Amino acid sequence: MEIVSEGKARIMTENAFYNPKMKRLRDISVALLKATMKPRFTVLDATAATGIRGIRYLLEADAGKAVFLEINSSAYATLLNNINLNGIEAKAEAKNASIQEFANTSKERFDAIDLDPFGTPAPYIFDLLKLAKDNTLFMVTATDTATLCGAEAHACLRLYAAKPIHGKLCHEASIRILLAFLARIAAQFNFGIEPLLSLAELHYVRVFVKLKKGAQKAVESVKEIGLASLCRKCHSYYLAKLFSSEKIAYTCSFCGSGTEAFGPLWLGSINNKQVLSKVASLLEDKTAASISAIASEPDVPFFYSLDEISSYLGIGSVPLDKVISELKERGISASKTVFCSNCIKADAKIGAIIDAVKKVNGSVIHKV
Ligand SMILES: C[S@@+](CC[C@H](N)C(=O)[O-])C[C@H]1O[C@@H](n2cnc3c(N)ncnc32)[C@H](O)[C@@H]1O
Ligand SMILES: [Zn+2]
Repeated sequence: MEIVSEGKARIMTENAFYNPKMKRLRDISVALLKATMKPRFTVLDATAATGIRGIRYLLEADAGKAVFLEINSSAYATLLNNINLNGIEAKAEAKNASIQEFANTSKERFDAIDLDPFGTPAPYIFDLLKLAKDNTLFMVTATDTATLCGAEAHACLRLYAAKPIHGKLCHEASIRILLAFLARIAAQFNFGIEPLLSLAELHYVRVFVKLKKGAQKAVESVKEIGLASLCRKCHSYYLAKLFSSEKIAYTCSFCGSGTEAFGPLWLGSINNKQVLSKVASLLEDKTAASISAIASEPDVPFFYSLDEISSYLGIGSVPLDKVISELKERGISASKTVFCSNCIKADAKIGAIIDAVKKVNGSVIHKV
């Protein structure tokens, strides 16, 4: 029987789902646990399959105890073998049970909970919150990116009660839709959420949030939820928190066109920069660089696409780095963004971005 090695774990994958491509995300999860948890913490691997996550958390992140849930009997048999194979029987407890069954019967409360289901995590969040306590780290994967990114807008309405947005903003929007959904459900259990790290790529969204107990914390976190609107003509975007006096702009104040509203979204921070630098220091070079890149971005929602702005202005492409330098010279915090290759995250409105693009374009043309 084939044995696969990942991190310090050795596992069999027969009859259980295992995607080697997700190793990078599991490496990041191990590093985040090492960076933020006290030794001998307890963890729930709620959708275990081979058990690779919980096993790695025990072997590499100094977890003291892992409980593994797996609903499928064949996968459960593999999980049991893998626990033995790694010699972690004393710290592992495996159950051939569903999240729903376990959450509604167990009295245990975990320091960390990992949810990594097929597709949407939405139906499991409510039950898993019953197993949380103050400061629980909740790690949630969503692989229903077509839903969150707007290709299946009705599914997004049903599952997250949110309207997604197609196009360049969709990956960041999918993180913010998921976080707003988490914040709303968490608030029912008197938890606020504090996002530590949020990732979105083509096939997945993964968020790491700390749950903070208290009615006040819950209210504060729900107040971070709002709407956004996008002008598809000049590519400006607008934000408004729902429980504030802010109003969402249905007409673009820059070019006068109608906008497309989306959300509700989490409009607060989606990363904690201190945590990111600790996590990066624990990872190998390439993955560390991707985490450091997130940490170097201004902490504001969304970004501007240089291609879209150039096409609105009817000009050729302008160098991204030059526009970023121009913005910085004007005292605006600006950077590239991990969400989009030729885009700028900046603490500025569209007018300031367009001024900088025009200036760079003028100087480029001038030199030719
Ligand atoms: C995507 S796989 C998990 C992959 C694993 N975490 C990894 O990193 O390789 C999801 C697993 O959750 C299990 N599952 C599905 N619904 C469940 C439920 N309600 N309760 C517990 N496990 C469930 C499936 O049988 C499957 O093995
Ligand atoms: Zn506009």
